[in-house]
Amino acid sequence: MADGGTAATASDATPAPGPDDRTGDRTRASVTAIDQARFRAILGRFATGVVAITGVDPATDRPTGLAANAFTSVSLDPPLVAFCVAHTSSTWPKLRAAPTVCVNILSDRQEHVCRQLAARGADKFDGLTWDGAPGGSPVIDGAIAWIECAVEQEHVAGDHMIIVARVLELDRHHDGAPLIFYRGGYGGFAG
Ligand SMILES: Cc1cc2nc3c(=O)[nH]c(=O)nc-3n(C[C@H](O)[C@H](O)[C@H](O)COP(=O)(O)O)c2cc1C
Repeated sequence: MADGGTAATASDATPAPGPDDRTGDRTRASVTAIDQARFRAILGRFATGVVAITGVDPATDRPTGLAANAFTSVSLDPPLVAFCVAHTSSTWPKLRAAPTVCVNILSDRQEHVCRQLAARGADKFDGLTWDGAPGGSPVIDGAIAWIECAVEQEHVAGDHMIIVARVLELDRHHDGAPLIFYRGGYGGFAG
């Protein structure tokens, strides 16, 4: 069992906590009272890489993108990756309208790329050079690897969506160390 316990029978099943059940109230309170600053502070202790998710907006034919650290591989067969995007993103609707998107793994020399792609309303590709992946999505110069994908599923998850995308093509790009995001700051990998 996922919770490590034994299966409850009808006779030993614990009834759902009522309004005056203190254990139940405390459980609910601990779940609902987690403030956002604490959530960010604790989750921020999980070091991640940073990716630039890019695409060509079909409405303007211009490249666009956003920075994300909520990215993971999911499945080898079929090859799937996933990333999380906030409902408030103004760039995601443009990316999902593109035929393919590219996940660029940023290097430790690309903090400025991360900041530029995270800036809302900015010209995301101002000063950036890029080439098209086979499906046309932007591979940013200086990225250490790229993964071109097609969006397959979008799951609503709280204030974000979990996007599952099928990998169409991928490759290494420039040699270099990854950009690391940890406790709200940027660093490199010193392994
Ligand atoms: C290091 C870093 C990591 C980020 N990770 C995510 C993420 O995983 N998901 C997300 O929706 N936004 C993430 N953002 C925010 C987006 O890059 C961007 O700021 C947001 O989508 C608003 O811009 P937009 O309106 O152009 O989409 C991150 C920003 C930074 C600087």
